[in-house]
Amino acid sequence: MAQRRISAILNHLAGSDDLNHEINYENPAERYNLRPNLTSAETKHQLVLTDNKSGQKWNLPAPDANNNGPISPVQFIVLPKSKTTNSLTVLDNRTGKLYEIAIEDDTIPALKFKTMLGPNKKEGIRVYDPAYQNTAVARSKITEIDGEAGVLRYRGYPIEELAEKSNYLEVSYLLIFGELPNKVQYERWSNEIMHHTYIHIRVMELMKSFNYDAHPMGMFISSISAMSTYHPEANPALAGNDMYKVSATARTKQIVRLLGKVPTVAACCYRHRIGRPYNYPQSNLGYCENFLYMLDHLSEENYMPNAKLARALDVLFILHADHELNCSTAAMRHIGSTLVDPYSAVAGAASALYGPLHGGANEAVLRMLEEIGKPENVTEFLEQVKQRKRRLMGFGHRIYKNYDPRARIIRQVAYEVFEICGREPLIEVAIELERIALSDDYFVKRKLYPNVDFYSGLIYKSMGFPTDFFPVLFAIPRVSGWLAHWVESITNPAAKIWRPRQVYVGEGKRSYVPMEHRSLPDPTENDNNDNGFNMEIHYDLSKRSAAATYEGKYRKPELKA
Ligand SMILES: CC(C)(COP(=O)(O)OP(=O)(O)OC[C@H]1O[C@@H](n2cnc3c(N)ncnc32)[C@H](O)[C@@H]1OP(=O)(O)O)[C@@H](O)C(=O)NCCC(=O)NCCS
Repeated sequence: MAQRRISAILNHLAGSDDLNHEINYENPAERYNLRPNLTSAETKHQLVLTDNKSGQKWNLPAPDANNNGPISPVQFIVLPKSKTTNSLTVLDNRTGKLYEIAIEDDTIPALKFKTMLGPNKKEGIRVYDPAYQNTAVARSKITEIDGEAGVLRYRGYPIEELAEKSNYLEVSYLLIFGELPNKVQYERWSNEIMHHTYIHIRVMELMKSFNYDAHPMGMFISSISAMSTYHPEANPALAGNDMYKVSATARTKQIVRLLGKVPTVAACCYRHRIGRPYNYPQSNLGYCENFLYMLDHLSEENYMPNAKLARALDVLFILHADHELNCSTAAMRHIGSTLVDPYSAVAGAASALYGPLHGGANEAVLRMLEEIGKPENVTEFLEQVKQRKRRLMGFGHRIYKNYDPRARIIRQVAYEVFEICGREPLIEVAIELERIALSDDYFVKRKLYPNVDFYSGLIYKSMGFPTDFFPVLFAIPRVSGWLAHWVESITNPAAKIWRPRQVYVGEGKRSYVPMEHRSLPDPTENDNNDNGFNMEIHYDLSKRSAAATYEGKYRKPELKA
């Protein structure tokens, strides 16, 4: 309360014409000493501030509202009225220095804090923001999200309109080049991409060497990464460090290659998993038709994938194409900032996407729905979520605090796919989950709504895709978003290598202690000691090896029960 009153008066003073002329703008943090006013019983514990020019008085409460502390002179600072309202005035209480920081696009430059040196400090203040919860790392023109309103736009075009009227290749052009293509541009673009669909035969051979049950996303990441070794002219280490910064031709060449080849790699992952020979692409088909063809064609003549399913997949690809600086896109920009080739950067971004909190969520949703099994079990499951024993996969978002607009479109597409492939029974579980969660205080209070992954898995399941293939289906279209961000960041003349800072909270300097003098607890005494290397046996011992006798430097592990 006292604090608030003081602030209110200070604000008043800061705007006062009477006082302004007394403020030294060279050193704007003026200090005023106040003495307690003890003349009246009523104001015994108050301080009075008098403006000597006008004679106006303001009562200020003493700092200790409980009357416990001494009523001593109070020092305070009058902040000058800033010449602009679009700025932040920061007072460093360590030094009494004032800093004015301009606010631009609702952001302030973090580097400004670097100039705020404390007494005896060589470095300024750092902004601590674990998990980038409120840090903007790029100015971007690609995708706009209004998380509170549930709005998503690519280059200004609402996602709903693009999903209804556009197609994935057109959207990828829009994301990467900033405008929708005209007819000639679109034909060239799609033609180029569809003629870069073949992958090097040795990439295929490499893929064949994966284990029969390798997770398709692991195969996808490794194969994209391996592709970097087949295009030496695309490697900055061989073709020039700055090649992607300076040459639009070099960038576009790799972009069409990546967009063309990614569905082929994905289809090979799928065929590998189900033990079928890999198919070659058909350049005369549409992007999604070709993908479905590579997945499914055996030996049938004139095989043509179902046009409605191809369109449904195309809509899903549009919805997944970009989502501004999500974890994998931030990873793409981060890796790209080193000027490495885009294959390595895409492989890194795809690794970030693989995680269950990101693109792996659609797979996790399906497993969760299967585990719940039927609508009657939903309430019990949600109770476990509320007790923090479980996480409701496909719900919640760092940015959306409203219904994810993509989830709404996907729900609609789900019913269109069900008409062709049959209703996926788990949709009943999903609908019941959504119904109960959206009316439960726990989820409402935390603004947890279904996200893009909640219904996409059901579509994929209905279309007959194995669950572990879902993240790959997310990765294919996200490649265009990653590449759009790669181009935007790499062509920024002010671009630098990304390198965040840390707050070191570890030990200070200490001297090496010889082993025989160390008094740390023996980790063998506490196998649950997670802070160090515990002595749990990390390899399985076969019964035969356990029964064997042998000698050696290391002790023989116990056979696990
Ligand atoms: C997407 C996600 C990682 C965002 O995480 P975040 O921005 O760090 O949000 P937080 O983890 O800080 O969540 C805020 C609160 O909501 C809760 N919450 C968030 N997502 C939740 C979920 N899916 N189930 C249950 N509780 C959830 C958190 O426990 C936290 O509660 P608290 O404030 O009482 O501690 C998170 O919502 C999540 O894990 N969702 C499930 C995975 C998923 O669907 N990912 C795909 C995203 S497109």
